[in-house]
Formats: sequence, C-alpha cells, structure tokens
Amino acid sequence: MTTLVSLWTDLRKRLEAAGVDTPVIDARLLLEAGAGVQRLDIVTDPRRSLSDAQVAAVEALALRRLDREPIGHILGRKAFWTLDLEVNADVLSPRPETELLVETALEILPKDKRARVLDLGVGSGAILLAILAERPFATGVGVDISDAALAVAKRNAEKLGFADRLELRSANWCEGLAHTFDLVVSNPPYIPTADIEGLEPEVARFEPRPALDGGADGLDAYRIIIAALPRLLAPYGAFAFEVGRGQADAVQALAQAGGLATETPRLDLAGIARVVAGRRAA
Ligand SMILES: C[S@@+](CC[C@H](N)C(=O)[O-])C[C@H]1O[C@@H](n2cnc3c(N)ncnc32)[C@H](O)[C@@H]1O
Repeated sequence: MTTLVSLWTDLRKRLEAAGVDTPVIDARLLLEAGAGVQRLDIVTDPRRSLSDAQVAAVEALALRRLDREPIGHILGRKAFWTLDLEVNADVLSPRPETELLVETALEILPKDKRARVLDLGVGSGAILLAILAERPFATGVGVDISDAALAVAKRNAEKLGFADRLELRSANWCEGLAHTFDLVVSNPPYIPTADIEGLEPEVARFEPRPALDGGADGLDAYRIIIAALPRLLAPYGAFAFEVGRGQADAVQALAQAGGLATETPRLDLAGIARVVAGRRAA
C-alpha cells in the first residue's frame, strides 16, 4: 500500500540521488500537485493511502523533475517576494537572489509618492509586479523582446490586479521609449555564452536562452542599457541592476563611465555582490 508518507520518502530519496538540491521541498510539492492533497494532509494524516491513479499522477510529475526540469515549470507557478506567479518554459523562473533587487528598489522609492518605474527584460513580471505590490502610487513599463514572456507577464499582472498600472512593451531593450523614469530596474541576461552549458541542468537545458545569454563576457545588455540611461532617467532618477557573480565591479565601472553616480554594490545572502545601483545627477 502506498501512503502519503511512503511516497514522499521515496520521492525525496530519488530526487536526492538525481542531484536535485531541494529534494525535501520538491518531493512535497510534487506529491501535493500530483495527488491533489494539501500540505496539512501530509502532516496530519501521513498514513492516508493513495489510489493507483494518484500514484501514477505523482510519478509522471516526478519523472520530469528527475530529468531536472525546474519545479516551477512543472507546477506552472513560482513563489517570488509575496507573490504567487505563473511561470512556464517561456520565462525565467524568478530566483530568490532577485528579491535583493526588489528590496533595493523599495529603498529607493518612497511609499507615498508617485513614481514611474521601467523594468527592462520583464520576463514573468516578477520584479515589476513585486514593486507595484509594495508601492501603490507607482506605475510601471515592462519591456521584453519575447512576446511569449510578455503574455505570461500580462496574465500575472491581471491576476494580481495591477494591469491598470502596468504597460507591457515588446521591444529590443530601450528602443522606442520616449518617457523618462524615476527608477530603471533590470535583471538582464548576464551569463557569458561559453558558460551556459556548464550551468545546472535546470538552467542550461530548460530556461529560455535569451533570458541567460549575456554575450562573450556576459555584459552585453548592461552596455546597451547603461548607454540609454542618461535619456531614460528623470533628474536624480535611479537605476538598479542584478549582476552575475564577479560582474559588479565591471558594471559599476560602465555606469561611472556613462556619467552615473553609483553606490557600493549590495551583497546577496551568499555574500555575492548582486545588485549595482546608482543615480543620474541632475
Ligand atoms: C534574466 S531574465 C529576467 C526575467 C525577470 N525580470 C526576472 O528577473 O525573473 C532576462 C529577460 O530579458 C529578456 N531579454 C533578452 N534580450 C532582450 C532584449 N534585447 N530586449 C528586451 N528584453 C530582452 C529575456 O527575454 C528575459 O525575459
């Protein structure tokens, strides 16, 4: 007889053996989604037996995770900040370290003032929607080159009730943007092209290539975006970018060379300089 706890234990061991780095959580999420049970059921009724159909449904999802498909793609959703976002193979699954970019943006934007925010490479909408959730007087423009990603961002904005404060644009970075902004945020593709194959399978095989590939040194997008900041930022307008490991100094130097003032880069929970931020002088 297969029970909730026996299947959870079995899944956890198989995920661990396959090299999945969060086997306990993922086993529970797959069990909940496949068997149609709640977390509380697993805790309060662990010896509940499962039907053959429930076991088969969990197994079908487990095989995808064992093949290292990201858990967010399998479940169709990912938690980010305080939001439950739809994600799929067309968007980068928002990552925990990106919450530091949201924190930075919230330090920059006063709570009770109007502000115009631009998110370049909006993807699922994670960053911009988290900002709009915390700043009720802010409006946003989200740009992406992927129409499929923009469709996901649009559904997330509608579901969260922010569609009226958000404009989504299909464009190549800053092309065609005529307005100025109080804050420009971006988590652009920043992986050097040659490094992509060596990343964990969840990223290298399943995340959209345009969300990853930052060109030969990983800095292509920053060069383009920083060059446009003087015309995109309002006087004293701010910018904040997520950067990859070891890129903070180079991105900061690009911003300074572009005439922008920069702050000390912010460190993520792993101690990696992860966010480069600064301002346009008047
Ligand atoms: C690393 S993902 C970030 C997604 C989302 N902002 C997040 O943090 O989860 C980078 C995004 O930039 C978009 N992108 C790549 N090249 C672009 C370009 N030339 N113009 C606009 N967006 C682009 C990708 O489609 C992808 O959605």
